[in-house]
Order: sequence, then structure tokens, then C-alpha cells
Amino acid sequence: MTMRMTINKIQAMKRKGERVPMLTAYDYPTARLVDEAGVPMVLVGDSLGQVVLGYDSTVYVTMEDMLHHIKAVARGAKRALIVGDMPFMSYQASAEEAVRNAGRIIQEGGAQAVKLEGGQTVAETVRRIVSCGIPVMGHIGLTPQSVHQLGGYRLQGKTAPDALRLVRDALALQEAGCFSVVLETVPTPVARIITERLAIPTIGIGAGPHCDGQVQVLHDMLGLFTDFVPRHSKQYATLAEAIREAVTRYSREVQEGAFPAAEHSHPMDEAVLQELMAAL
Ligand code: KIV
Repeated sequence: MTMRMTINKIQAMKRKGERVPMLTAYDYPTARLVDEAGVPMVLVGDSLGQVVLGYDSTVYVTMEDMLHHIKAVARGAKRALIVGDMPFMSYQASAEEAVRNAGRIIQEGGAQAVKLEGGQTVAETVRRIVSCGIPVMGHIGLTPQSVHQLGGYRLQGKTAPDALRLVRDALALQEAGCFSVVLETVPTPVARIITERLAIPTIGIGAGPHCDGQVQVLHDMLGLFTDFVPRHSKQYATLAEAIREAVTRYSREVQEGAFPAAEHSHPMDEAVLQELMAAL
């Protein structure tokens, strides 16, 4: 039986000074590939709103959307710890609702942990979810579900008071029982200060090299999502180009009659064919 990654092992990686790579996945084939490559944590992020569903923000993503994709990822990733994102308005209205929705992500979705956005304001909610035995990953800095309040996808923690608030948010999440916390789009020194002050691992995205781990949106790092390329992402492949090229070739070969060739087709026994022809 395949041994699955646990939150204890992820936390031990910080203590041993081992960096934690994390990637998003949203469906069975990508989850399988990411898992086979040995990535220890997979995030089914609500970023699927943009990179899979074509919305212009994550606020439209529903619990049903998340469950649909988390289930597919759970079928594909057998070794990685699967973290399921709690979508906008699945945890903000009340702690009770948050607990129920976190439970659905574990019980129906098959994830091993949930992630939600916010600092001190969500600490009590985190405490309630953790008290039910559900591991929670925090997420502070640029929290995309609050895009309208933040006034856009901007660097957070630029002033000393804002940076101090982020440090306090991170400590509050640790105190509430988060096993790890995502730091998104904050200045490198702020991420470093938080990482040094926390016992739990920080996972950065646009937060510089000093975090305990890094997370990237798979479609960004594969060059598959080309509507925009965030500053924090590095393209390790150019899949959009490769797909466009392959589809163009396929289309041309069908038009020219070059596809399918004999090796893609099914022959028939000559005697059976003769019999058929005689009967026609
Ligand atoms: O939804 C997501 O993919 C995320 C990461 C960018 C951290 O929250």
C-alpha cells in the first residue's frame, strides 16, 4: 500500500531544513503526474476558477465546483497530502458552516486538509475546524477572495504597520492550530521574518526564497494558462504552444487525409470482407 504524506512529515521537513515543493492540480491526469513526480503536497486551489473554469476571479467558485475537482485529484494523487481550498463564502458566514464545509472537503472530496484565507479574523474558525480533527492551512498576504476589498491583486505588507499585521496574522493562525500557512505576494523580508518566527512551515507564492516551501499554480508553471503570466511564476514548460502546434497538425492531417493511417485503423479478414461484399 502506498504511504501518504502527512502533516507531521511536512512539519518535520521544516525542522530538518528541507524545502517543501507544492503545486496545484485540478483533475485526475495532472494530479497523477504531479504525484508521480514526488511533489509532497498538492493543492486543489480555487485558482481553478481562472485557470480551468475561465472566470476572472476566484469569488465565483462554489463548494460544488471544489468538490468536483477535489474528488478527481483524490483519484489521481495517492502519495501527496491533498489540501482542498475552501471557496469564497464557504467559511465566512459562521463557524458552523465552515466546519460543515471543511468536513465535506475531507469526507466527500477525499482531501486530507483544507485551506482558507485570512488572519486574526478567521482564527476562531480555524480553531473550530481543527478541533474536529481537520488539518487547516492558513493563507495570508494577498488573499484573492478579498480582491474587491484589496482593490486588485497587489503586493501586501508594504508599510511597517501592514507588515506587522501580517506577522500577527501568521502568529494567530499558528496559535489557532494551522499546520502550515501560505504567504502570497508579500515582500521577501516580511516572508523571512514570518518564516523565522513560526514553528509551522510557511509556503510562499510571490514571497521570495526564504519560505519553508513554495507553491505554484500548475497551469502557470507549465505555460498552459496564457491570459496573463504573474510575476511570481516561472515557466518550466510552454505547453500552450505545444498544444496549439499539435492541434494545428492534427487538423491539417485530417483535412489532407493523412490521418488516420493504417496503424490507427482496424483491418478486416479478407475472406470475411469477400463474404460481406457478396452479400451486399
Ligand atoms: O488557489 C490557489 O491556487 C491558491 C494558491 C495560489 C496558494 O490559493
